[in-house]
Amino acid sequence: MEQYIIKGGKALHGEVTIGGAKNAALGILSAAIMADDTVTVENLPDIGDINVLLQAIEKIGAKVERIDKHSVKINGSNINSMSIDYEFIRKIRASYYLLGALLGKYKKAQVALPGGCNIGSRPIDQHIKGFEALGASVKIEHGMIQAEAEELKGNHIYLDIASVGATINIMMAACLADGITIIENSAKEPHVVDAANFLNSMGASIKGAGTDVIRIKGVKSLSGSEYAIIPDQIEAGTFMFAAAATKGDVLIKNVIPKHLEAITAKLNEIGASVEEYDDAVRVIAAGRLGHTHVKTLPYPGFPTDMQPQMTAALTTSEGTSIVTETMFENRLKYVDELSRMGADIKVEGNSAVIVGVKGLTGAIVSAPDLRAGAALVIAGLVAEGFTVVEQVEYIERGYENFERKMQGLGATMAKIDIEDEKAVQKFKLKVS
Ligand code: UD1
Repeated sequence: MEQYIIKGGKALHGEVTIGGAKNAALGILSAAIMADDTVTVENLPDIGDINVLLQAIEKIGAKVERIDKHSVKINGSNINSMSIDYEFIRKIRASYYLLGALLGKYKKAQVALPGGCNIGSRPIDQHIKGFEALGASVKIEHGMIQAEAEELKGNHIYLDIASVGATINIMMAACLADGITIIENSAKEPHVVDAANFLNSMGASIKGAGTDVIRIKGVKSLSGSEYAIIPDQIEAGTFMFAAAATKGDVLIKNVIPKHLEAITAKLNEIGASVEEYDDAVRVIAAGRLGHTHVKTLPYPGFPTDMQPQMTAALTTSEGTSIVTETMFENRLKYVDELSRMGADIKVEGNSAVIVGVKGLTGAIVSAPDLRAGAALVIAGLVAEGFTVVEQVEYIERGYENFERKMQGLGATMAKIDIEDEKAVQKFKLKVS
């Protein structure tokens, strides 16, 4: 099994280019099957989750043609199955977006019910409530969610929680419903807006995405489109925190600075400087970072997907910081791994209380999930000595060429088989 090996203690310097947003791409690729014409999607990230979703789409009969690593053509005219197996849902929860896409287009869908995941239980009651409001009957049988409707009719839907997944899923189904749908308390994340823009590019009529009321006027059918996905806010934020934590100076290119405002504000607060350009940000940190309190909140608040990376950066900051996770109940489990590297962290309820230490020391740690895995890499870059991050497959689900991008910034990091003693020796020799 390949793992990351990192020799820490070096400040990151240079430029890195951010890829397309994973979470936008998951919604957009699912929506792409709703047209019978060919849809071209560009700026796709070449990562595990996207490749699994493309396989799921292909399995139900859509034609998927990879033009290159970052672009794909999808044609949904020959879909012959309305059923998505557990095989795919188990690998990526977001294949539940095919529920909204298939229900909208064919008025029928059957998708395996997603289970819990490493960051906590994640119900989908709001998705179901939305489909039912549009007139679908939804049953859960044999581990599958089955949604079916004679016809879908627009309705007024109030989400109890501003869920990203429910907003995108309901928006897709409502595009091809009869009449007007209003989603109140909708999620405002950049990828909700991107999914809406994509659907509009296919001929849908969606207004208000990015605010908490979305209005969708149903249309008869959707048509072909060419669309480029927005840059990944979380990949960008991860490099921003890696730059700050290592006291580096990094220009992060191909970003939308507005999407990074909550991250920028926190970095400024703890003493890093962030320069904003049209489509880039430069993060510079000279001395030791300071402490802060942060609470994860829906957009435009501080993203839960940046919580572990922020915590990693705060482990060596001056003073005591508190990081409160409000979205997912198990999302602080990784702190034990940071403690093994010498961090002083206590979990109290849904908060991590971090007393900044002077430095971390390298250790063998294991990535429990995608973002926590990225946080352990940041900690490894800061730590003195060697760190091995196991279970990198979690990290590769969401970051393209993570170790190569870090190497490009001067990080001493490689992906090698840790069991292969020769490879480990070679790495250690090369870097010492
Ligand atoms: C999406 C992101 C994920 C991010 C999260 C929050 C994708 C593919 N994933 O996940 O990376 O961490 O947004 O920004 O875009 N909830 C319910 N009932 C529902 C739906 C959600 O109770 O029907 C709760 C969840 O348990 C959670 C909160 O609402 O506590 C937010 O979840 P949601 O916004 O739906 O997250 P996801 O779309 O699953």
